[in-house]
Amino acid sequence: MKRIAVLTSGGDSPGMNAAIRAVVRKGIHEGLEVYGVYQGYAGLMEGKMKKLELGSVGDIIHRGGTILYSARSEEFKKDESQYKAIKQLKELRIEGLVVIGGDGSYRGAAKLSEKGFPCVGLPGTIDNDIPGTDYTIGYDTALNTVINCIDKIRDTATSHDRTFIIEVMGRHAGDIALFSGLAVGAESIIIPEKKYEIQDIVAKLKKGIERGKKHSIIVLAEGVCSAGELAAELLNNYQLETRISVLGHIQRGGTPTCFDRVLASRLGARAIELLLEGKSGRAIGMQKQEIVDHDIIEILKKRDPIQEGVYTLSKELSI
Ligand code: F6P
Repeated sequence: MKRIAVLTSGGDSPGMNAAIRAVVRKGIHEGLEVYGVYQGYAGLMEGKMKKLELGSVGDIIHRGGTILYSARSEEFKKDESQYKAIKQLKELRIEGLVVIGGDGSYRGAAKLSEKGFPCVGLPGTIDNDIPGTDYTIGYDTALNTVINCIDKIRDTATSHDRTFIIEVMGRHAGDIALFSGLAVGAESIIIPEKKYEIQDIVAKLKKGIERGKKHSIIVLAEGVCSAGELAAELLNNYQLETRISVLGHIQRGGTPTCFDRVLASRLGARAIELLLEGKSGRAIGMQKQEIVDHDIIEILKKRDPIQEGVYTLSKELSI
């Protein structure tokens, strides 16, 4: 193998740049030529690729976003689009592809691998919802962003004796809500993996008010409902006034933490090793501090359960 390419796809996440840097530098270190694909699979179909040099990835390890840009492509789900992408890669004599992204991006990588083009996937998403890895690139940074925001909201919540509902990202996975909620001492954490009873939340809020609590924080994962809907229910049915804050895309930006940079660097380097070993259709991750890889199609069939012990603990500590 002489020439490979790298792309970022789906929702960006802090640390993607560190991963691109690792792929490019490790690739060059191993004697490869590395091409960057711009705008994910959408760009790949159009042949938007450029050779990256050592200097192309200088001064990016600490930057959020992705220098290769990203996109979500419906078009790429079609077989003909995947063949078009392979044609573009072959025209440049590219023999392997590193895909950095979430589950949608992995689906694309699996399809290309099935069609005979060697691909490996790196988990780049703030949601931490990729099986086969304990952490995804960007998750740690997003958690830190969320807790910084909630700590600030807590100041004003306390000053005004208010309850805040904080809506965080996570359509299917409650990791951001659960772990940030535990870290800020939230009264209630509402996640898609667990059924919740509105009466329990009301009872907890009332108990807090009775014992003179100055504020309450409810962390809500977006996949359950919107903060506005929950606030309306609390007001209309239980006469409980709240304020809401939807953190939104702020969670996807910013300087990656040390953890995310190191994770991205280790996973990125491993991607090159796997391609050089002739492996394809592999999803790279870190489990119990070790860098591992799994069959990407198997990974896509799974869903890691929420950490029950952490969920229970969050309830025990928020009495
Ligand atoms: O990338 C994951 C994610 O940030 C989810 O947490 C969120 O629901 C979604 O992307 C938002 O996507 P978009 O930026 O396309 O609206």
